[in-house]
Amino acid sequence: MSDTNRAADASTSDSNATGNAFRHALGHFATGITVISAVDAQSKPYGATVSSFSSLSLDPPLIQWSLTTKSYSYPIFSQAKYFAVNILASDQEAVSRIFCKPIDRFSQVESSVGLEGLPLVAGCLGWIECSLERQIEAGDHTIFVGRVMRTRVADKSPLVHWRGCYHPLEVDPIC
Ligand SMILES: Cc1cc2nc3c(=O)[nH]c(=O)nc-3n(C[C@H](O)[C@H](O)[C@H](O)COP(=O)(O)O)c2cc1C
Repeated sequence: MSDTNRAADASTSDSNATGNAFRHALGHFATGITVISAVDAQSKPYGATVSSFSSLSLDPPLIQWSLTTKSYSYPIFSQAKYFAVNILASDQEAVSRIFCKPIDRFSQVESSVGLEGLPLVAGCLGWIECSLERQIEAGDHTIFVGRVMRTRVADKSPLVHWRGCYHPLEVDPIC
């Protein structure tokens, strides 16, 4: 049996890259969770829960994330010159849920103001403040590339998302 078939045998769903099977497969990749934040032209803060964040380049320092163009917040992020990556800590599951809801999200959390007026969610394990470097259309999402202006971290454990569930990561590391 080929390795490809062995992998298929171990799966629990059909392997076509369509609809639910595709989403199901993507959910098997464990990620951290972020809230990406920005302000609109009136300085009103916006944010959305995003797990597509990743590092991109060390020199220059670049990061990336992607947002569905169907998002209510899409017009805000597509116009924003700056955005912040708020990396959620293990005790911030509620924050992740708030930043998916159709409400005034920043009225539900404590926050501070960062560089260029960026709204920063309190209690996170890290903050990465960026200027927008580039937007790239990709299917039904847009990739946002940010040039890092400032990073700050706290000594906390992360909130992890895996197979559709939240997992506060509280294990001893293997380094
Ligand atoms: C754990 C988690 C990760 C998510 N990651 C993304 C993402 O990377 N990109 C995206 O477009 N939406 C992502 N979403 C969905 C958005 O948070 C959600 O569609 C958005 O906040 C909906 O609100 P809006 O349309 O008012 O912006 C994620 C949701 C959850 C719960």
